[in-house]
Amino acid sequence: MKRIFSGMQPTNRLTLGNYLGALKNWVKMQDEHGTQCIYCVVDLHANTTGYNPGTLKNATREVAAAYIAAGVNPEKSIIFAQSSVPGHAQLGWMLSCITPLGWLNRMTQFKDKAGKDKEKASAGLYTYPTLMAADVLLYHATHVPVGDDQKQHVELMRDIAISFNQHIAGRDFFPVPDPVIMGEATRVMSLRDGTQKMSKSAESDMTRINLTDDADMISQKIKKAKTDAGLVPASEAECEGRPEARNLLTIYAALSDTSREAVMAEYGGQQFSAFKNALSDLTVATMAPITGRMRELMADPTEMDRILGASAVKANEIAEPILKNAMDIMGFWRA
Ligand code: TYM
Repeated sequence: MKRIFSGMQPTNRLTLGNYLGALKNWVKMQDEHGTQCIYCVVDLHANTTGYNPGTLKNATREVAAAYIAAGVNPEKSIIFAQSSVPGHAQLGWMLSCITPLGWLNRMTQFKDKAGKDKEKASAGLYTYPTLMAADVLLYHATHVPVGDDQKQHVELMRDIAISFNQHIAGRDFFPVPDPVIMGEATRVMSLRDGTQKMSKSAESDMTRINLTDDADMISQKIKKAKTDAGLVPASEAECEGRPEARNLLTIYAALSDTSREAVMAEYGGQQFSAFKNALSDLTVATMAPITGRMRELMADPTEMDRILGASAVKANEIAEPILKNAMDIMGFWRA
């Protein structure tokens, strides 16, 4: 059996990048035969870049609502908040003690997120990848569907699993998880700068499409998206040096479940204005049912809490025996 684990941080609103790079694939994996899917709202990770006690709980509900609205079925998959299963923090600590600093120093995301004044970044931001390794290993998960930007973190968790198995357990205790980076849109870029990732934490809202944007906002953002003076590229060669054009084609391909090549065959050589109209219609048609369903779900926080609570029980049932075994292997005292 494949056991799938993935998660998203409840920091700001989710974007089209989160949807196309990860969430859409989560739904596909849920519907594959013989998979068990665990989709987590990683609220402990959200604290690595600052505490928002007043908004965190609702942000957690909102991310869970986005999962469900996009098609994750809470009857079939486990949807829960990371902080509701204590094993994440416990195993996270244990793994941080066997992870060499040199491995963490290689992580590019820390460098990006810490900014210029590294001394002020939290210790949590630095050890973030060991908690992420714990998230997956705590469930003996085998596959981790993520966008391209998380590849390095998944590679690190593989190294941690191998190291634990070899040096501490002396056997294959943790399955070594595989990253699953699939689809056309493994890295959706900013609408204003095709060399930057579309990010929920970027300063300007015009750089991204949020899962909560309405039709007008989506079409405005696409209309204003940066392009160049040329026509829509008709081949990969024509995309060279035109990251914004390539990005819009990629988004169209991912939304319509085709390839960039097929989109270029249809729109290549046309004016960007015509292509942008088509892209805007497609984005609205895809996102409107999701945002509508999210709104309905968020209108009933009690029901969201019931779903998160029931799933937390199921997640804990899987995690607890694995954590206990890991503690025994590490030699901790237990009654
Ligand atoms: P986060 O919250 O930044 O993003 C959630 C998921 O969305 C993907 N993603 C994108 N994909 C394509 N294009 C983009 N512009 C884009 N932006 C985001 C991310 O790759 C990710 O899959 N560290 C993780 C959360 C995490 C996690 C885990 C993931 C914590 N524990 C265990 C998997 C397994 C993160 O910050 O994702």
